[in-house]
Amino acid sequence: MITSTLKTTQSEEIFAAAQKLMPGGVSSPVRAFKSVGGQPIVFDRVNGAYAWDVDGNRYIDYIGTWGPAICGHAHPAVIQALHEALEKGTSFGAPSRLENVLAEMVIDAVPSIEMVRFVNSGTEACMSVLRLIRAFTGREKIIKFEGCYHGHADMFLVKAGSGVATLGLPDSPGVPKSTTGSTLTAPFNSLEAVKALFEENPGEIAGVILEPIVGNAGFIPPDAGFLAGLREITQENGALLVFDEVMTGFRIAYGGAQEKFGITPDLTTLGKIIGGGLPVGAYGGRKDIMGMVAPAGPMYQAGTLSGNPLAMTAGIKTLEILRQSGTYETLDRITKRLSDGLLQIAKETGHTACGGQISGMFGLFFTEGPVHSYEDAKKSDLTKFSRFHRGMLEHGVYLAPSQFEAGFTSLAHTDEDIDHTLEAARSVLSML
Ligand SMILES: Cc1ncc(COP(=O)(O)O)c(C=O)c1O
Repeated sequence: MITSTLKTTQSEEIFAAAQKLMPGGVSSPVRAFKSVGGQPIVFDRVNGAYAWDVDGNRYIDYIGTWGPAICGHAHPAVIQALHEALEKGTSFGAPSRLENVLAEMVIDAVPSIEMVRFVNSGTEACMSVLRLIRAFTGREKIIKFEGCYHGHADMFLVKAGSGVATLGLPDSPGVPKSTTGSTLTAPFNSLEAVKALFEENPGEIAGVILEPIVGNAGFIPPDAGFLAGLREITQENGALLVFDEVMTGFRIAYGGAQEKFGITPDLTTLGKIIGGGLPVGAYGGRKDIMGMVAPAGPMYQAGTLSGNPLAMTAGIKTLEILRQSGTYETLDRITKRLSDGLLQIAKETGHTACGGQISGMFGLFFTEGPVHSYEDAKKSDLTKFSRFHRGMLEHGVYLAPSQFEAGFTSLAHTDEDIDHTLEAARSVLSML
């Protein structure tokens, strides 16, 4: 048993008050630590690779505000640009030059994107892209994969990962059957299942949406040929292929997972990194499809704060940092050291584990593996994961509080941070 040495008095007080004010005391479910147990930590500030809680404890942060902090928290260049942008106002609700700049950067970087629309979250991006593929094809059904999370819009809350998996909710009450009736699901990495769905629903499927590398059921990469297979099947059936790169966009490579694997979908959703830590989302793709979006075309989608100048500014600065040479090599090297180290230590301390990383995204499961699907991920020893999570926290390492979430590194993580993390993992795993 790991005994608690962490001083968390302030965290406990604030979280107790929060629970009376907000459902579960949080603004997003996974933050409540329900699946790992124990008190959640209340943050005071973040900088570089670190987070400080309200009791003054410092953690090496492997969540990075769930992905956006790829350059490190509060990067000086981003903060400086935000200060300057702030002087010009917080929201325009009118066209701005900044939108052009970020749009051009996104279009230049992401192979599938010829035109882009900015929104305020990944959820909004996925919700809108779904309307778009239905509008473009005139078909209603979609295929998603078990364990993939595309935000919390009704039609995606079917076998969704992330918080839905964490809380063990099959679907959410309040989601009408009529909304999810057109959402077909297949196991990740099963081309056979996808083929069967197309055969059973001829001419009815608008498109296939997936996380090209799953991060919301833990870290699950695509099997060789899976993405290429999906590209082929969708083309053969007149359906569209959508990569949800809200998490993987600008993380796996500057051009996202689609650049890394050389497969170009018809449409892509983005979020997280392109807002540099401010609320943002985007969807984009082929010009002929994006031409359907209002006011260029008839598919309605809008947003009061969309293209917000602060979010655009933070996004532009973040991408400027990321496109410098060597950034993805650095991320990959650091993250590989971490992932290989964790697996090696698990082995040496007698634990069955598997996992891996690509660029600055990683995962560890307490099961033999390999993990190809959400079903495989669920075989992980969740009790062990919870104890590992708490133990690491006690040692100043902040990991995602759920087995069904990927971990993230940043350009601010140093070799010393990795050394410290691996030492912590050795002490914790030796005691489990
Ligand atoms: C792949 C993916 N799609 C969509 C979303 C939803 O994004 P948001 O939380 O910004 O609404 C997430 C969030 O984690 C995600 O990981």
